[in-house]
Formats: sequence, structure tokens, C-alpha cells
Amino acid sequence: MQIRARMSMSADGYVTTPNGWPALTADPAFVSGESHGIREFLAGCEAALMGRTTFEPALTNDRWPWPNLDVFVLGSHRPDGTPDHVTTDSDPVRLLEKLRSANRGGDVHLIGGPRTIGAFHALGALDTLELVVLPLLFGGGMQLTPMLRPDTGLTFQRERALPGGSVEIVYSCSGSRTELPSKPVSQR
Ligand SMILES: NC(=O)c1ccc[n+]([C@@H]2O[C@H](COP(=O)([O-])OP(=O)(O)OC[C@H]3O[C@@H](n4cnc5c(N)ncnc54)[C@H](OP(=O)(O)O)[C@@H]3O)[C@@H](O)[C@H]2O)c1
Repeated sequence: MQIRARMSMSADGYVTTPNGWPALTADPAFVSGESHGIREFLAGCEAALMGRTTFEPALTNDRWPWPNLDVFVLGSHRPDGTPDHVTTDSDPVRLLEKLRSANRGGDVHLIGGPRTIGAFHALGALDTLELVVLPLLFGGGMQLTPMLRPDTGLTFQRERALPGGSVEIVYSCSGSRTELPSKPVSQR
């Protein structure tokens, strides 16, 4: 089982629009039906993992967004209307144990948001960070950091161009990377 965080992001580095929607929802290609590689990604996944903030909008969706996946939610309470088959827990360590004991060999799609990705990375449980960089600039919104620690080590695995002008980039993750320089090159 691999825990694979996958997030859409604007070309200027925001994972949400300035008003808090996932970056992907602003892409005209998404609105017109482009899947941004999600079908291929989900082929190896059996579970979806997310934070309560990311989960709650699904409760009022017209259709359940994760029909073929076991769903796990990190949050201090179980939101009203949560279907019985969804597993919730307030403790990331316990939720990770539940994920592992339910696992049948498939991967876990860690949907987000940044706080939940940061929580699982802090446990050493984040295997990959997969970004879909959209051909859009937002000028504001939420970033992955600092909730995902800026010293997270990323090792490039692969990339591919997606229809609609986005690029998928896959990194494997480790604990920390080489120190950042303390001063910009121009000031040394
Ligand atoms: N671009 C993308 O692909 C993408 C994907 C997903 C989400 N998003 C965006 O991300 C934003 C939400 O991100 P977020 O980081 O604010 O929220 P989040 O990770 O979705 O959920 C945060 C909640 O998860 C629980 N949680 C997180 N870390 C925890 C920890 N260490 N221990 C216990 N509970 C913990 C807490 O729930 P309680 O408050 O109940 O304690 C916390 O309030 C949304 O605007 C969404 O649109 C973007």
C-alpha cells in the first residue's frame, strides 16, 4: 500500500482558488469534462483519505465522489449525514492503523487538503506527492506549505503532459532535504 497525495495546483503554486475551491475547479478544461489523468491514477487505488474540510462539501453533492473507494476522514467529529461506510477518526495515528488494517493491497489516494497531507507526512506515511499543474495563475489561495513542511524531500519520478495544457509531476517523498541557502544568491 502506498499513500499517494495528488493535488491540482495553479502555475503560481496555489492549491485552492482565492475563494477556497480546489484549484482544478477553475480550469475550463475540467468544466468541459477533461479528467486530468485521474482515471489512470485511481486504477491502482482502493481508498480515499482526506481531512474533514475537504470531505464535508461531498455530503451535499448530487453524486457521491468516491463510488469505488473506501473513504477515510481525519476530523475531530463525524459530520452530520456521513454515510455509515465512511471511517472517521480524530487521531492521524489511529486513522493510519485503520487504513492499514483495511488494506487489500491497493494504494490510497490522499486527496488533501494541505493540513491532512502535512499530518500524514509528519507520521512518515506520505509516499508520493503528485501534482497536476494547471495553465492558470490565481494570485492567491492556499499553498501546500507550511502545512506540508518546506523541508520535505522530493525526488522526481516522472511527468506527463495532460490534454488541456496541464502537466502531471510525480515525486517520491522523504523526511527532509538539504538545507535551503540562508541568503539569496544575489546577496552572497
Ligand atoms: N487542489 C486540490 O487538489 C485540493 C484537494 C483537496 C482539497 N483542496 C482544498 O484544500 C482546502 C482544505 O485544506 P485544509 O488543509 O484546510 O483542510 P483539510 O486537510 O481538508 O481538513 C482539515 C481538517 O482535518 C483535520 N486534521 C488535519 N490535520 C489533523 C491532525 N494532525 N490531527 C487531527 N485532525 C487533523 C481537522 O479536522 P477538525 O477541524 O474536525 O479537527 C482539520 O480541521 C479546501 O479549500 C479544498 O478546496 C484542494
